[in-house]
Amino acid sequence: MIKATWLGHSCWTIEGGGHSLIIDPFLSGNPLATKKAEEIKADFIVITHGHGDHVGDALAIAKRNKALIIANYEIVAWCQNQGTQGHPLHVGGGAAFPFGRAKLTIAHHGSALPDGSNGGSPCGVVLEMEGKRIYHPGDTGLFYDMKLIGEDGLDLAFLPIGDNFTMGITDAVKAAKLLGAKVVIPMHYNTFDLVKADPEDFKKRVGKEVQGTECVVLAPGESYTL
Ligand code: NI
Ligand code: MN
Repeated sequence: MIKATWLGHSCWTIEGGGHSLIIDPFLSGNPLATKKAEEIKADFIVITHGHGDHVGDALAIAKRNKALIIANYEIVAWCQNQGTQGHPLHVGGGAAFPFGRAKLTIAHHGSALPDGSNGGSPCGVVLEMEGKRIYHPGDTGLFYDMKLIGEDGLDLAFLPIGDNFTMGITDAVKAAKLLGAKVVIPMHYNTFDLVKADPEDFKKRVGKEVQGTECVVLAPGESYTL
């Protein structure tokens, strides 16, 4: 069984197979966060891109937990320079880890790190754990290659719906169609005024327009198990 818990914005913990991952651990300064960075227990930290609302508390969580950071080469190098352990991947590449497999995908966005360092290309990630496949697209606009990402079958996909910096609801509905995941859960909305969106509107539209995909709306702190 895999338990995915939304901690607000794009931050998720994924627990399964005796391991615990955290994706885009933005907790300090995240008004929706239901946990403090000091409470996080994680073996692995996945960072999709260099922006502060995704790198978040990664360094502190990695040091305290001796967790392995999985991200693109540039972000892993930046983290390693600050005393953490990492495994670099890059777009299209995946590797086996004790929890399963992680593969980076394209994303259309930026990736500058909080201190202005080059954070490489922004990415999404496909995780394979316990025979399930989960897609976290990071921050991105809509792209047609989501069809390819969905071709191998997705059990769960998180989708940004907040508009302004990422897809808004209309494009996220198109993304859901291209991906064909069994379940989609909206994220990256209502954290700040600039990313205000109604997740129930997204859910209604997925229900009407996307066959074979269920939309689940979580409140921060809630989990979905699969
Ligand atoms: Ni971003
Ligand atoms: Mn963001």
